[in-house]
Amino acid sequence: MRPPDPSEMPATGASNVRPRVRIQTPALAHEAAQAAANARPTDALRGSPRGEQDSALTVGREAIFDVQDLSVSYGSSQAISGVTLQIHRNLITAIIGPSGCGKTTFIRSLNRMNDSVPGFTIDGKILYHGHDIYDRGVDRVEVRRRIGMVFQRPNPFPKSIYDNVAWAPRNLKMKSGLDERVERALRGAALWDEVKDRLKDSALGLSGGQQQRLCIARAIAIQPDVLLLDEPASALDPIATAAIEELMQTLKNRYTIVIVTHNMQQAARVADRTAFFNLDASDGRRTGVLVEYGDTDVMFTRPADTRTSDYVTGRFG
Ligand SMILES: Nc1ncnc2c1ncn2[C@@H]1O[C@H](COP(=O)(O)OP(=O)(O)OP(=O)(O)O)[C@@H](O)[C@H]1O
Ligand SMILES: [Mg+2]
Repeated sequence: MRPPDPSEMPATGASNVRPRVRIQTPALAHEAAQAAANARPTDALRGSPRGEQDSALTVGREAIFDVQDLSVSYGSSQAISGVTLQIHRNLITAIIGPSGCGKTTFIRSLNRMNDSVPGFTIDGKILYHGHDIYDRGVDRVEVRRRIGMVFQRPNPFPKSIYDNVAWAPRNLKMKSGLDERVERALRGAALWDEVKDRLKDSALGLSGGQQQRLCIARAIAIQPDVLLLDEPASALDPIATAAIEELMQTLKNRYTIVIVTHNMQQAARVADRTAFFNLDASDGRRTGVLVEYGDTDVMFTRPADTRTSDYVTGRFG
């Protein structure tokens, strides 16, 4: 797959609702990078916004997202504060943490899905291939073309199976070879064999697990670069969940995947890297913060922060 070229993100005035964005100056960004570099090694980072651990998995691997000091608010209420982390190519990165700690807020910020939420504001930066996705002149539609999303509840359109998968390519005028594109997406989502003889049937007649794989097919039909999955299996039974988890392992060869999950076993099973978010109440308000981030086996067996070990061992949350 051709890597996205940030310069191809077209300038546009198409977005009516623009969040308030504080743009860091290059000098500040440089100072922040310097401070982050100086702040390693990780033992000194307990409780700091940058809880990231060095890893053989990430050394030399391209960072698709470079999130810098990200804070998100809805009106006067701050949902997450000071999140700094990188998400690397062709890995599965899990976001875990107790309810309300900002997992969905974080993942939806990665493809500007929150832009239309009333009162949504962000501070800090989200660099995607080095390009600030909240920069003026970046087209939200183009961002979502490259960064696809699948939600907690399967949400097929009340259309045929074929038309669900063909929907985004048609909207983006990718009409040539549409049949092949639909088949490729359905095969990619491990659904083709189950639906190839009923492509004109309503998608609403599929089982929950099939519907969720259809939503994944719909997301990959336009060949994005990144797949964001917000609790994609929480509404599914164990067999359908296993199918989605297996599928993720195949998809990560082609996509960079970020998954929010409440299910600790699922994070341990599927994710290469895990970020633990928690609610911090130290200033009297409850805000989501990134506590610790590292390779999944480290996060689950020898985390650096007691809050992480308490959470992953089920002591709270
Ligand atoms: N659209 C919204 N408008 C106002 N506040 C919101 C909105 N979405 C989320 N919030 C608030 O932001 C905080 C973080 O919510 P978020 O949904 O990101 O948490 P979460 O970690 O995904 O929780 P869960 O595990 O329950 O899904 C919560 O206090 C929530 O009430
Ligand atoms: Mg959520």
